[in-house]
Amino acid sequence: MYLIKTIKGDITKVTDVQAIVNAANNSLLGGGGVDGAIHRAAGPKLLAECRTLHGCETGEAKITKAYNLPCSYVIHTVGSIWNGGRDKEEELLANCYFNSMKLAMENGIRTIAFPSISTGVYAFPVELAAKVAVGTVNRFLQDNPDSFDLVEWVLFDAHTEAVYEAEVDKIYE
Ligand code: APR
Repeated sequence: MYLIKTIKGDITKVTDVQAIVNAANNSLLGGGGVDGAIHRAAGPKLLAECRTLHGCETGEAKITKAYNLPCSYVIHTVGSIWNGGRDKEEELLANCYFNSMKLAMENGIRTIAFPSISTGVYAFPVELAAKVAVGTVNRFLQDNPDSFDLVEWVLFDAHTEAVYEAEVDKIYE
């Protein structure tokens, strides 16, 4: 049986998962927010490997080593930029979670941590993002029983953590 949980903290510091997910941009060449934090913590070899990947489409996911991070893999995915909900933002965000889980499963990864994809610079409303995130991951786990032991969201602020926690609580009600 798998566990889904939320914690408040810095995703570059979690030690209980094999892979952390990066909220990257289409270039995969680093940026601010969690992307910047992951590249700073991993060191320059992460950028060097990312350069060999030739970018990533929105909603898609690519995997690299984690270098100086305390996990084994980084799965880079590119969230959708919120534009009022008129440009398939929800569907593309759901693709981020589906494709990250699928890529993790294909690599034998059973424990994974996500940030709150798209809710920072990309301005996706946190409440809707949390619904999409938790709903997509939960459906993936139900469709692929015994494929994961732990999926956690590592949230950087108390409000975001409370929103995701409320969504996860609904699963276990
Ligand atoms: N650990 C966990 N979460 C973090 C961390 C961290 N170290 N740093 C920031 N966050 C949180 C933010 O507070 C926000 O809730 O990650 C969430 C996503 O915010 P962003 O990092 O801005 O990501 P996103 O909204 O998907 O925008 C992606 O921002 O950094 C650039 O290169 C990136 O262009 C891309 C865009």
